[in-house]
Amino acid sequence: MSVSQMQGMVIENVQKNSGWYEMEISIPSFAPCARPGQFVHIKTGAGSDPLLRRPFSICDFDKDAGRLFLMYKLVGSGTKWLSSVASGSYIDIVGPLGKGFTCPDPGARVILVGGGIGIAPLLYLARRLTERNCRLRIFYGVEEYHQLSALNKFERLGVNIDVATHDGSAGFKGLVTDLFEQKIVSEKADVIYTCGPEIMMAKVAAVAAQYQIPGELSLEEYMACGVGACLGCARKLKAEDDNFVKICKDGPVFSFSQMKFDLN
Ligand SMILES: Cc1cc2nc3c(=O)[nH]c(=O)nc-3n(C[C@H](O)[C@H](O)[C@H](O)COP(=O)(O)OP(=O)(O)OC[C@H]3O[C@@H](n4cnc5c(N)ncnc54)[C@H](O)[C@@H]3O)c2cc1C
Ligand code: FES
Repeated sequence: MSVSQMQGMVIENVQKNSGWYEMEISIPSFAPCARPGQFVHIKTGAGSDPLLRRPFSICDFDKDAGRLFLMYKLVGSGTKWLSSVASGSYIDIVGPLGKGFTCPDPGARVILVGGGIGIAPLLYLARRLTERNCRLRIFYGVEEYHQLSALNKFERLGVNIDVATHDGSAGFKGLVTDLFEQKIVSEKADVIYTCGPEIMMAKVAAVAAQYQIPGELSLEEYMACGVGACLGCARKLKAEDDNFVKICKDGPVFSFSQMKFDLN
């Protein structure tokens, strides 16, 4: 897989009702084989501050049009800078990086569980899976209705999507993991993919284990180089492991069976 440093032209960079941003970038040289679950590393400043690039999931990618889509929330200086980039400006992008989700067999029955901004990589995954005629069931959890900004994008794919909000302003009232746990009883899934807060993914993996359904999750970690050279993102997947993995290079996607979460 070719990783390159490129300039992408920002087509649109807008704040949604959720408070989160969506960015569309024209980047014709971006690797057409970019996989769902991979990420891009973006220079989020004009000079050397901040020094380190910031990682963002490929939220969607149209290889024919050379368009990359990101969804991001304001966290600190890097994302603040990103939010100020005007249409027509160029940003410096390295990618695609990391190991993406494994594609299941065509026609597979697939469940996706996304929480908050963690829904971002699941949109591109859903697109690729519908192209493989997979049967998708999606559980999408947020705090409140306005944060469902990706909902219409999933609906345009024609996929089956269930929503959970903490405050009950849309769909199931409560945690997406509770909704998922209720519904999985009647689902016959071959594989589950999840991205969101680690506590949410831990619960998804635990429920999946009860039903002996394999799955994959995408981990988030602070990153420096993004290419496996600095150990900035190193962590153990199980406390008893001897070795550390590099989230940027060995991940960010890992299988449920590689992980052991401390749920206490
Ligand atoms: C593989 C990967 C994919 C990602 N995809 C997306 C995405 O699609 N959309 C999106 O909005 N975000 C995504 N993130 C998170 C995003 O990279 C961070 O929010 C961003 O780097 C913050 O930069 P900043 O300069 O604005 O904040 P900083 O100034 O770096 O940090 C501000 C505060 O946030 C905390 N913080 C920063 N980064 C993280 C982190 N990774 N985990 C926990 N706390 C953190 C810091 O401790 C600090 O308190 C992803 C992260 C990874 C590793
Ligand atoms: S960020 Fe440098 S090794 Fe992962």
